[in-house]
Amino acid sequence: MAKTDFIELLRAKFVSHLETRSKFTEPQNLYEPISYILNLGGKRLRPVLTLLTTELFQGDSDQSMDAALAIEMFHNFSLVHDDIMDDAPLRRGKTTVHEKWDLNTGILSGDAMLILAYQLFENYPPELFKKLTSLFSKTSLQVCEGQQYDIDFETRDDVSLEEYLKMIEYKTAVLVAAAMQMGAMIAGASEQDTIAVYEFGRNLGIAFQLQDDYLDAFGDPKTFGKQIGGDIMENKKTYLYLKSMETGNQEQIESLLHLYSIKPKDSSSKIEAVKTIFEESGAVEATKDAIEMFTQAAFGHLEKLKLSDANKKILRQFGEGLMQRTV
Ligand code: IPE
Ligand code: IPE
Ligand code: MG
Ligand code: MG
Ligand code: MG
Repeated sequence: MAKTDFIELLRAKFVSHLETRSKFTEPQNLYEPISYILNLGGKRLRPVLTLLTTELFQGDSDQSMDAALAIEMFHNFSLVHDDIMDDAPLRRGKTTVHEKWDLNTGILSGDAMLILAYQLFENYPPELFKKLTSLFSKTSLQVCEGQQYDIDFETRDDVSLEEYLKMIEYKTAVLVAAAMQMGAMIAGASEQDTIAVYEFGRNLGIAFQLQDDYLDAFGDPKTFGKQIGGDIMENKKTYLYLKSMETGNQEQIESLLHLYSIKPKDSSSKIEAVKTIFEESGAVEATKDAIEMFTQAAFGHLEKLKLSDANKKILRQFGEGLMQRTV
């Protein structure tokens, strides 16, 4: 079987598990938004990585199905709350939960998803339960910290690239890393291997968020599924912005500082002006280089893994595939 088919198979298995496990009853106003967001699709990147990692370490992906679902449940919880915080109208090409229903619905349905995620770990034997929930709690708290930094940075004008990298590591990369580490733990991999696989996921996750920032400004609205320019509207201090401030000329820097101090009602001319600066300052190229660099750093951790070359190649191809994404 070709390797990509194997990943597609895991994705399909996961989606069918998700469908059987996302049938809820009353109150409808709590559960309908949960079914809505869970079934809107998405790439299923994190749960697929959990299942794949279990398989690569000679485990049975059926055993990691609930951990994979917990991770996807948590991810969707974080998206519902993130869309409130970012004032986002679109998610996966459809109306966001808080706009389709209302703010309170988004808050409470999000909370319930977080609890449902924790509950799924109860299906594991005590020793594994302890390991998985402890990793999960550490990771979830880091995601909250990352999200707080992201919001704090909107109104700060002295954010450094180092601070930005820490922020995206927390809000995004640690969950990708934990998804893989859980897969390895469930397969009974050595501690050394679970740590190396975590590091692979962490670096890949950083590259993934850098690319998300790039696509937020330059992606195709038909495939990306989110409002293009949303980060610019919210004055997000992304890699594109911070690099422009570092490498841009005086005029570009002053112009960017001004554009990022306003929130006009009609944002289209602001978005276009900012994108031009991102391109002309060389920040777009720098962002692409950084995506490549963190992906290569992830591959570096593959060397430490006690996996066959064929299995390492699957992870490498997965990482290369992510760099090509438009969704
Ligand atoms: C969106 O994650 C949030 C980020 C961390 C960038 P994904 O891009 O994985 O979203 P879906 O699940 O595929 O929609
Ligand atoms: C999201 O970062 C990270 C989390 C949801 C924890 P973004 O705000 O960039 O994600 P999108 O672009 O809305 O998916
Ligand atoms: Mg967002
Ligand atoms: Mg956000
Ligand atoms: Mg984004």
